[in-house]
Order: sequence, then C-alpha cells, then structure tokens
Amino acid sequence: MSSKEKSIGQIYKKHIKLIIILISATVLSIFFLLLINLNRNYKDSNLVNVLGKQSMLTQMMAKNTGRIYTINSVLQENLYDKSNEENLKYKLSQTIKKLEDSKDEYDRQYSLIKKGYVVVDNKKISFKGAEKKLIPVFEKNDEIWSNFKESIDIVLKEQSNSQETIKAIKYINENNEKLLNYSEEITRIVLDYNNKETMIIYYIIIILAVLMLVFLALFINKAYKELFVPISQLYKGMSQLGITLEDSLDVKSEKNDLMPVFSEVNMVFNQLNSLITLIENLNKNIPFKDILEYIFKSFSKYIPYTHIGVALIDDDGKTIKASYGISDKVHKNLAENMAEFKIDINKTSLSRIVESGKERIINDLEEYVKKVSDKEYNKILLEAGIRASITFPLKNKNEVIGIIFFSSNIKNVYRKEHVRFLRMLANSIVLSLEKDIFNQDMIISSTLALAKLTEERDLETGEHLYRMKIYSKMIAKFLSKEEKYKNIIDLEYINNIERFSPLHDIGKVAIRDEILLKPGKLTAEEFEIMKTHALYGAKVLKAAEENLKKKGRNIFFMAIEIAEGHHEKWDGSGYPYGKKGEEIPLSARIVAIADAFDALTSKRPYKEPFSFEHSVKIINEGSGTHFDPYIVEVFNKNIDKIKSKYLEFKYKNIL
Ligand code: C2E
Ligand code: SIN
Ligand code: SIN
Ligand code: SIN
Ligand code: FE
Ligand code: FE
Repeated sequence: MSSKEKSIGQIYKKHIKLIIILISATVLSIFFLLLINLNRNYKDSNLVNVLGKQSMLTQMMAKNTGRIYTINSVLQENLYDKSNEENLKYKLSQTIKKLEDSKDEYDRQYSLIKKGYVVVDNKKISFKGAEKKLIPVFEKNDEIWSNFKESIDIVLKEQSNSQETIKAIKYINENNEKLLNYSEEITRIVLDYNNKETMIIYYIIIILAVLMLVFLALFINKAYKELFVPISQLYKGMSQLGITLEDSLDVKSEKNDLMPVFSEVNMVFNQLNSLITLIENLNKNIPFKDILEYIFKSFSKYIPYTHIGVALIDDDGKTIKASYGISDKVHKNLAENMAEFKIDINKTSLSRIVESGKERIINDLEEYVKKVSDKEYNKILLEAGIRASITFPLKNKNEVIGIIFFSSNIKNVYRKEHVRFLRMLANSIVLSLEKDIFNQDMIISSTLALAKLTEERDLETGEHLYRMKIYSKMIAKFLSKEEKYKNIIDLEYINNIERFSPLHDIGKVAIRDEILLKPGKLTAEEFEIMKTHALYGAKVLKAAEENLKKKGRNIFFMAIEIAEGHHEKWDGSGYPYGKKGEEIPLSARIVAIADAFDALTSKRPYKEPFSFEHSVKIINEGSGTHFDPYIVEVFNKNIDKIKSKYLEFKYKNIL
C-alpha cells in the first residue's frame, strides 16, 4: 500500500517539477524579449547618433568651404574695413580649423564604418552582417569621398581663391548632396540590419515560447491521463463502493504532506484492505456471527448503518425468523425485541423482497409505516430508533434463504452508491451463512433428535423439552432488559438459550428405564445414578464439540454449560461439581429455574403436577439456596407473562 502511495506521490512531484520548469522558461523568454528590445533601442539610438553625425559633418564641410571662399574673396578684393582685417583673418583660421576637424572626424568614422562597426562610449556596436548591402554604397561613397577630400585639401592648401580652389569648391558644392545621400543610405541599411537581427532573435524566442506552450499543453494532457484520469476513476470507483468525501473526513492520513486527494486514495486502499480481509475470512470457515461483526466494524466508516440484522427463512419456507443481529448502542433492546420476530412471510412486505429477489430502500420508516400493512415488525424497528433501512434478499444461487437489513437511526441516508456496495457485501456473505447454517443445522438437528429419543422413552413428560425451552427463552429475555444483563444477553444469547436448553437432559439417554421411568420415589442409590445424567450429557456434547473445533467452531459451548450445570445450586449443594453462586454459568442458572418450574407444574412418572401458585412458591423457597436470587426476582417481576404462557400450555393440553 505504501509503495503505491509513494509512486503516485512521485508522479505528482515529477509533474509539479515539469510545470515549474516550463513556467519559468516561459517567464524567462518573456524577460529576454524585453531585454532584447531594450538593447535594440539602445543600439538604434547610438547608430543614429554616429551615422547621423556623418551627414552633419558633410554639411559642415560644404558650409565651411563656402565660408572660406567668401572670406578669401573679401580679403583678396580689399572689400573690408582695415580695422576688420584681424578679425577676418581670425575667422578664416577658425573656419579652416573646423573644416580640417570635420574632414578628419568624417574620415575616422568612415574608416570604422567600413570595418563594420562604430564606437560609442568605448563600446563597439557592430553591424558586420550588413556588409553585403553596404559594399556597393561604400564603393560609390569611396569615389566621391576621395575627390571630396582632395578638394578640401586643395581649399586648405591654397588659402586663396585660385582657379583650382574654385574648381574644388564647385566640386564640393555639387557632390555634397550625394555624399549626404550615401550617408543616409548607410544609416538606413545599418538600422535595417539591426532591426532584422533583433527580429531574428525575436522570432527564435517566440518560436521557443510557442514550443514551450505546446509542451505545456502536451504535458497537461499527459498529466491528465496519468494523474487526473486515474484519480477521477478512483473517485468513480469510490462512489461505486459507496464512499464519499464527507464519509471519509474522519479518516486521518499518517503523512501530513499528503494532499487531500491522497488521503482519499489512502482511504480507498484501507477499504479495499477491509474487503480483502473479509474475503479471506469468508474462505476460512469463520463463523457467520464473527463475519457479521467484522462487517459491522469495518464498513461503518464508509456506509451509514447502526444495525445489521439477518432473518432466515425456516425449513417450512413460510416463516421468517430473526437469526443474527448486531447494533450500535443507540438501539436499545432491539436484539431482544427482534427475538420475538418470527412471522409468516406472506403477512409482511418482506414477501415482495423474497419473491422479487430485489432490494428495498426505506429512507423514512415513519412515513413508510403509515402506508404498509406489516406494522408489527416495523413497530419494533421504529421503537428501537431505526429510521431508514436497506433490505437485501440473501440469495444462494437462485433461492432466497433469508434477508439482510442494514439500518440507520438517521433518515434519508441511503443512496444508490450504498446499494451497490451493500449488495456486494450481501452476496459475498451468503456463502458463509449457508455453510454456517448447514453445519449448525446438521449438528443441532442430529443432537436434538438424540434428545427427542430420550423424551420419547418418557411419554408422560411429552412436551417438557418444548415448554422448558419457551420458559428458558422468556427468562433470558426478561434478564436482557435489566441493566445488569443488557450488555451480556443479546439476540444471539437468547437464540442459543432457545436452541440449547432442550439439550439439558440429553445425558438421560444413559439412564436405565427402571430408574428413569420409576413411578415412585428414587432410592439414594438410584438417585446417585440419576445424577450422572448431567456429566454424561456434557460429555456427549463435548465429544461433538471436539469434532467441530477442528473446523474452528465452538457452537456447543453453551449447550455444555447447560447440560453440565443445570443441577448445580446457588448455595453449592448441587451436582455434579457443587459449584456456588456465579461460578455456575448464567445459562445453567436460567435453565435450572425453567427446568424445575416445568417439572413442578407438570406430571412426572413420580409425581402429579403442582398448581401454578404452589410451583411459584417452591421456586421462591429455593431463592438464594437452590436458585440465583436475582433471576428469581426477575422471574417474579414478570410472573404475569409466565402465567399466561403456563395457561396457554394448560389449555392447549400440552401440559
Ligand atoms: P425432572 O423431573 O425434570 O426434575 C428436574 C428438577 O426439578 C429436579 O432436579 C428438582 O430440582 C425439581 N423438581 C422436580 N420435582 C420436584 C418436587 O416435587 N419438589 C421440588 N422441590 N423440586 C422438584 P433433581 O431433583 O436433581 O432431579 C433430576 C431428575 O431426576 C428429575 O428430572 C427426574 O427425572 C429424576 N427424579 C428426581 N426425583 C425423582 C423421583 O422421586 N422419582 C423418579 N422416578 N425420578 C426422580
Ligand atoms: C435482527 O435484527 O435481530 C433480525 C433481523 C431484523 O429483522 O432486523
Ligand atoms: C425426558 O424425561 O424424556 C427428558 C425430559 C426431561 O425429563 O427433562
Ligand atoms: C438460528 O439458526 O435461527 C439461530 C442462530 C443463532 O443462534 O445465532
Ligand atoms: Fe436434569
Ligand atoms: Fe429437565
């Protein structure tokens, strides 16, 4: 399980890493784009400065040659005020100086430009890549510039307006514009080139960014398939299993750094684990009761229920009987009240479930009860606090063998997802149930047959086994309602009392007819033999139990307690061991009262029946000596119910 979590965690981390890388790459490329743009603007403005200056220098050279010519004319033709001569000569030298500087500056820059770069603030700005386009312009410019330079040199050398000077000045004036145009052409080409170079990087980065976006998209698709699809399938699976986020909120993840999603995944694994354990138990011959307990404990986290009950169809196929039940403590007395529940299927709405083989959801039992006829049984459920339930048929192959109820004390809790999951549970436990019923039925019915055999030897006590079973069950039920025993005596305990109390005298098979059927009082010797029936019965049942234990079962535990202990007395004067007080098992203490009460009220080969009142008196006289005084007290408390049962037996002639 933990390796699974880890690998999902790793996939998740890997994906997070990739997302971070892709996003930072995208941010970086945007940053680069800004930087490149800044750099281009910087280059552009510096190139315009340097190259533009060449045009300006050209104009300055033309202007200054013109000035030199003018000043020289003035000086030559003496057109000036004598006092002004100094001033004019100073201006001439200044202009000559400017002309020289302009020429040198132009020449210097031009030779650098021809090498493919300019220098600004000691930084080289290169445009080498533009050479191809620049060469033809340089060629034309070279020719003009060499003549231009020569003409300037003539002007500078002659210092007067000679023929040659005039020719040079004329050349300068005529070609000044061409030189200007070439400078501008060079500027245009260089700026063009700079722009293009930037654009190429621009495009490369844009392409990279697009590629990254494509990667991001592909990655998201991949992540979707690898991570989100499986998780959403898990979600779907979970909801099919009947799990919802809110159901699982109480499930704490061991790792704090797990995302909520992983704690949910974790929970699914936990649930799957529970299911696997359940399936293992089903294959291990675990008694059905334990399976039911396991289900009750393991799945209540995921599915809302506070009670699970199983009712089985009797052999006659007509009645249905509460057989197993497990409840939360919110449902007081549900188990005992359910123990009454044995009815004709056709009188209940359960018949529809049995016939159709389909589940039934009641999300509001109070409302439901108003509409249906099987009020008795639903009243028990309502009184115990049940408000909603899902009932499934328990089907083995195509035969419905009973029903299982999942119930809750809260209205409207059941949804479709729950049905799917619970149906699966119902279907998987039915096999275990079948095995259990089969084994137990076989064993119990063969043991009961043995007990009946004893009964048949003594026709006069005829229905003793049946009556004392009913009395035993009644006493157990009364006790289960008392604070002292409500956590000890549950539905199963009551059912076991009912099943096993008729086996209490099974040891009488070993008692000879002369003693067992003796019409009068037994001699001390005979009674000693009679007393062996308790231990002998326990021995027979223990032998059966040994065989069962090999299959991991312990069903005769209570039967042994009863057979062995039903003649022990509270004060320690009983047999076979002389156990005292609560050393005597509770089941045996219950059965001792039921057994004696029925022996007293019925005819025996050795005695006539006593009246009801006299019998009750004898029981009370034995309180604290023969019988558990607490049980006698509870027996008295419910004496009305005992009496009506007694009368029922009497008038039905089964006394
Ligand atoms: P059982 O007839 O089923 O009686 C069960 C128990 O009921 C007796 O256990 C005894 O505790 C009580 N009981 C029955 N009759 C009377 C009675 O008249 N007075 C009082 N106070 N209690 C009564 P117990 O005594 O251990 O006897 C066990 C079994 O032994 C009896 O089962 C019965 O089958 C047999 N048995 C006991 N006494 C006689 C007898 O005098 N003659 C014959 N033939 N059988 C006896
Ligand atoms: C029980 O709950 O004890 C038996 C099944 C039912 O009717 O709920
Ligand atoms: C029998 O007598 O056949 C067994 C029933 C009983 O006496 O307790
Ligand atoms: C039954 O088979 O009806 C009884 C089951 C039980 O006692 O638990
Ligand atoms: Fe007995
Ligand atoms: Fe008896």
